[in-house]
Amino acid sequence: MTGKITVVGSGYVGLVAAACLAELGHSVICVDNDLNRVATLQAGGVPIHEQFLPELLQRHRGKRLEFSSSLPDAVAASSVIFIAVGTPPKDNGEADLSYVESVAREIAQNLNGYKVIVEKSTVPVYTNEWIRQVLNLTAGPHADFDVVSNPEFLREGTAVTDFLYPDRIVVGADSERAAELLKGVYAPITNGSYYQNIDRIPEPDSALIPPPLILTTAKSAELIKHASNAFLALKISFINAVANICEGVGADIQQVAKGMGSDSRIGPQFLRAGLGYGGSCFPKDVAAFHAVARECGYEFNLLEEVMRINEDQRTRFLKKIRTALWTLKGKKLGVLGLAFKGKTDDIRESPAIGLIQQLLAEGAHVIAYDPAAMPRTREVLQDKITYADSPYDVADGADALLILTDWEEFAKLDLKHVHKLLRYRIILDGRNLYCKDEMEQYGFIYVSVGRQPVPLRQLARVG
Ligand code: UGA
Repeated sequence: MTGKITVVGSGYVGLVAAACLAELGHSVICVDNDLNRVATLQAGGVPIHEQFLPELLQRHRGKRLEFSSSLPDAVAASSVIFIAVGTPPKDNGEADLSYVESVAREIAQNLNGYKVIVEKSTVPVYTNEWIRQVLNLTAGPHADFDVVSNPEFLREGTAVTDFLYPDRIVVGADSERAAELLKGVYAPITNGSYYQNIDRIPEPDSALIPPPLILTTAKSAELIKHASNAFLALKISFINAVANICEGVGADIQQVAKGMGSDSRIGPQFLRAGLGYGGSCFPKDVAAFHAVARECGYEFNLLEEVMRINEDQRTRFLKKIRTALWTLKGKKLGVLGLAFKGKTDDIRESPAIGLIQQLLAEGAHVIAYDPAAMPRTREVLQDKITYADSPYDVADGADALLILTDWEEFAKLDLKHVHKLLRYRIILDGRNLYCKDEMEQYGFIYVSVGRQPVPLRQLARVG
């Protein structure tokens, strides 16, 4: 029997984990020290944009899922405590673990019997040892607990299905007792019983059912998380570097990526060239992994290059905008997309936001639309840009249209209409959402990533 589960933190990871654990049949307390957030969640609010999350919160709130601001009460009532608080980057790239430490201390002060403390936040190797030390120092050497590393591999936008239909579950436990308890937590997934439910969250096409649970040491599990994110970021930077060569030699990155990705040893995923990776995970985790490696005496220079290529990708795109428009001062630029990727309202480390700030600095006027990320953008950019109600409002009278986020709806625009609305028929596509031939047919000047531009020099004025 697993008993009650506490999840500390109600951010992207904590809230999704809490809702999904309740969906698996567990009784869950989700704790946050942000009283406003707890009140919002208790009152039925959904603070983040995530597919299926509103349904799960609706289904389990007040039944198997409760929200609380009292960590002591939650700890006392639970046998498994997940720590899913933020680990933001410090100036030197290391992860700031002060939130994890203060949660560990508070848990230690409220231990009342055997507990398993599970680190779910992305943390550097050795964090489980530090948590153990904090617990021992605070609760005394006889405290009865284990610390387990159970990294998450959730992507924003598909986090609920990623949790319920994972490729694998990694449990890094240094004791048999803790490993058994965690196996019990995930049993409805690993024994397949969850997938028999009629009202289960629908499975994605590629779901591996049931997925394996990989048991490792705590340190290996911590490394699996950082190494996985760093490797995915490496894949993106690699394909972006190849895209730049494609531009130089007149090849097409989409054909190249298809040819490479069809090799089962390489795989087709994370080979989409574009503006580079953003978000709250890859930039932070690549820098943190680089810092971890340095600390243990290894210069992981490859990761420096991954970061450099990623930065360079935005600069190259800015140059393309300048090349297509000559000067930017006073130009009206229509921007589609603010989030760091489609299906999310998250703008942390978004290439779109970085680019817009550079365009503004060069004197351009920006009018933008995003299906979900405009409220969050307003908090950062305030009224420095104009917010539109639709992609077509963005295009209306613009000197060029810039596609900066890969929302599905941006790939299905009524091009005839866009053609009429734009002042100049120039589209700069940082996400390669369109086929070049289609753009050529409509007579757009179309500039994308890793493909030859369509036709670059004939600036056509719509009559
Ligand atoms: C990423 C990982 O994919 C998750 O497995 C992990 O759990 C998560 O980080 C985390 O550590 O919390 P996420 O940041 O939500 O998830 O988003 P991804 O879908 O991985 O995309 C990251 C960035 O890479 C986005 O900016 C996206 O546009 C970019 N990307 C992705 C590309 O430029 N090309 C690609 O082919 C794929």
